[in-house]
Amino acid sequence: MSLTELIKNRRTIYQFIEKEVSLDLIQSFIEAAIYAPNHKLTEPWQFLIIGNNTQENIAKIYAENRALKYQVEDSEGYKKAFDKSLDKFCSIPQIVFVVQNLDEDSITSKEDYAACSCAIQNFQLAAWEKGVGVQWSSGPILKDSRTFDILSLDSNKHELIAALYIGYPHAVGTTQRKEVSEVIKHFD
Ligand SMILES: Cc1cc2nc3c(=O)[nH]c(=O)nc-3n(C[C@H](O)[C@H](O)[C@H](O)COP(=O)(O)O)c2cc1C
Repeated sequence: MSLTELIKNRRTIYQFIEKEVSLDLIQSFIEAAIYAPNHKLTEPWQFLIIGNNTQENIAKIYAENRALKYQVEDSEGYKKAFDKSLDKFCSIPQIVFVVQNLDEDSITSKEDYAACSCAIQNFQLAAWEKGVGVQWSSGPILKDSRTFDILSLDSNKHELIAALYIGYPHAVGTTQRKEVSEVIKHFD
């Protein structure tokens, strides 16, 4: 597959089969990620590879946030939603968190976020090339102080910009883009 085909074929993956993704593969995706362009070579990222214990601990935060979105705390509905979300999070084959190291200068921070986004796309494409799917999630667990505590992060120095849910695809979606002519303007 050409690079352009790979880029156009990649889709966010929401459902995974029960199969582990090897740590060697995950490391190779991170190696691709860190070759992303980054202004002034700040290399503003960290990639946190999550093991089972940590996944279970963060699953409780994920489940609480999800259940509270739709249900009243301590209700029967809350418990069901909590348990369902807990199972869902624990069944994700592999999770990698992407951290942006914060800079005091706001322009540098903005450029560093752009660099981290490039790195994440590199990661997703390297994974897709190997038949591995990714969902870039930016949900509430990334803002929750308990997640920061579990991951030994300092919210004054770090921003959690992505939870990458990773695994072999169960199904591939068919999201489309606008026609390219709709986003191009010509100037003479
Ligand atoms: C900054 C950013 C944050 C995202 N956050 C989420 C998210 O929280 N949950 C989610 O399901 N997808 C998230 N996505 C994935 C997009 O929803 C997805 O890329 C979009 O629907 C297009 O689908 P495609 O990747 O299959 O082309 C995020 C993507 C980006 C770039």
